[in-house]
Amino acid sequence: MPYAKIVGSGSYLPPKVVSNDDLAADLATRGVETSDQWIRERTGIQQRHLAERGVKTSELATLAAKAALEDAGAQASEIDLIVLATSTPDFVFPSTACLVQANIQATNAAAFDVQAVCSGFVYALTTAEVYIKAGRAKNVLVIGAETFSSILDWNDRSTCVLFGDGAGAVVLSASEEPGIIGAKLHADGTKMPILSAAGNVSYGEVVGDPFLRMDGQAVFKFAVNALTQSAHQVCDEAGVSLDDIDYMIPHQANLRILSFLGRKLGVSDDKIVVTLDKHANTSAASVPLALDQARKDGRLVPGKLALLQGVGGGFTWGSVLVRM
Ligand code: UT7
Repeated sequence: MPYAKIVGSGSYLPPKVVSNDDLAADLATRGVETSDQWIRERTGIQQRHLAERGVKTSELATLAAKAALEDAGAQASEIDLIVLATSTPDFVFPSTACLVQANIQATNAAAFDVQAVCSGFVYALTTAEVYIKAGRAKNVLVIGAETFSSILDWNDRSTCVLFGDGAGAVVLSASEEPGIIGAKLHADGTKMPILSAAGNVSYGEVVGDPFLRMDGQAVFKFAVNALTQSAHQVCDEAGVSLDDIDYMIPHQANLRILSFLGRKLGVSDDKIVVTLDKHANTSAASVPLALDQARKDGRLVPGKLALLQGVGGGFTWGSVLVRM
């Protein structure tokens, strides 16, 4: 049975960079009080990239996908499946994956979206791996892309300072060499009250609350425990020790979550890839953005073992162990 191996990665961030000071000044004009100091101390975030109003998730995803294809040295026509994780799709339908399929002219690819919020990329990668292992696909484009700025309540300081926009992608291909060596996904829908965007369009009208709402402290505690347990479980099942992991690439929500996680697992800070200082929380895009950065800056060279982790709305969470 072939392995599924990451053979290329790419990312795209919208050009508009908004520092904490810029954001605080902008929010002050609405009477919303925040500061660079509060955001840095509570989250580790220093800035975020924000898409201009009207820019769609598919546009970010298409540029990340093209970058991943180029990095892999692959043609779009060689892709037989596109799995795209997002909670901010362009439309109710068609799926954002289909829009990317058209944009890159992946004429031989099936395409669908995965909706698992901040765990979306880990869910999408695991889905893609199963297709490859079953022999149903050879080359899969796996994308995490979001325009979370479009679902934020910019009058709610407890959430609007936390998120950014962006997209990351990998090409996952069938290989005789080890690639993904373990994966485990989880869900608990009873946790919906602590994180949701519980609105939709029905009979042509917005029904419910379409903005992201979060009980930050409850999510914080849940995230630390879920990621800790998930790391132990996926390593146990794969027969590897936590000491064998070269780099952890957890969902980028809060630097304090990453520090707690590292401490609980006995993993030193230098093994944890951090991008949230520059990107903020980009939901499904955060893990592939961090993965791409760690590949491009020479940390994730071939042979290194990486633990990818997601946690977010649903609730959903999970881990994937990847030999690069
Ligand atoms: O991607 C999905 C996963 N998401 C997460 O993992 C997020 C997890 N949660 C967190 O990261 C943190 O809970 C937050 C960053 C959201 C909040 O940090 P916290 O240390 O839990 O702060 P808090 O909610 O307890 O708020 C402390 C204070 C409050 O004021 P009082 O009641 O103590 O007077 C808030 O009103 O900070 C206030 N506050 C702010 N002050 C300035 C909340 N947001 C802001 C703000 N600027 N932006």
